[in-house]
Amino acid sequence: MADTSKPAIVHVEHLSKHFGQGTSRVNALVDINMVVYPGQVVGLMGPSGSGKTTLLHCIACILEPSSGRITLDDEVVYDEHWLKSDLRRLRLDKIGFIFQYPNLLPFLDGSDNVALVLGLAGYRSAEARARAVELLDYLEVGHRKHAFPRQLSGGEAQRVAIARARQQATHNLGGRADRAARFGACQNRDEFVAPDRRRSERSHHRRHA
Ligand SMILES: Nc1ncnc2c1ncn2[C@@H]1O[C@H](COP(=O)(O)OP(=O)(O)OP(=O)(O)O)[C@@H](O)[C@H]1O
Ligand SMILES: [Mg+2]
Repeated sequence: MADTSKPAIVHVEHLSKHFGQGTSRVNALVDINMVVYPGQVVGLMGPSGSGKTTLLHCIACILEPSSGRITLDDEVVYDEHWLKSDLRRLRLDKIGFIFQYPNLLPFLDGSDNVALVLGLAGYRSAEARARAVELLDYLEVGHRKHAFPRQLSGGEAQRVAIARARQQATHNLGGRADRAARFGACQNRDEFVAPDRRRSERSHHRRHA
């Protein structure tokens, strides 16, 4: 459920993006405005070529817009140019991608696919794995934690991918719980998922109680 009493988690203002120049110029986005609140699920709909993926890539800081402004979790990240020097860090901290095709690593089982992200963020492997299993349990796919991606159903693989995306955006909670924002971008379906921040924080506090 969208929580409009909280600051928007995504705020796009007058965003434009063109590709190419002159006769080959394509105006993919023209003066786009959009607000997404914590807990809100937003689907982008439009004809092929209307700019859905381009918008998603701009918001996810993968593609540099041509003009406009993007604010993520109350922080302006783009205002006619990038305001953050480390976009890779920004993506790691705040953005989770859930692909329609889950893109799980085929040689790692479910728990290792999730734990990998925390390992990259510096967690000891035992702690990374414990957190991974906890989240897989929460998503009701914990019983398949030792299965490899090829052994999972489509929905189970999606849930493992969701767990991985959430872990990616949650690893920075310690000491920054009040600022932490987590949202996943389902790229192929051009859809944002902004999980309910309060619920995530409650489970964080439970874990540390
Ligand atoms: N790298 C690029 N260089 C030039 N033009 C591009 C590039 N990427 C996208 N475009 C053009 O920008 C427009 C928007 O593309 P985009 O991929 O955002 O559309 P879409 O809404 O996601 O379409 P679809 O539903 O087919 O996935 C299209 O006309 C596309 O051809
Ligand atoms: Mg697309």
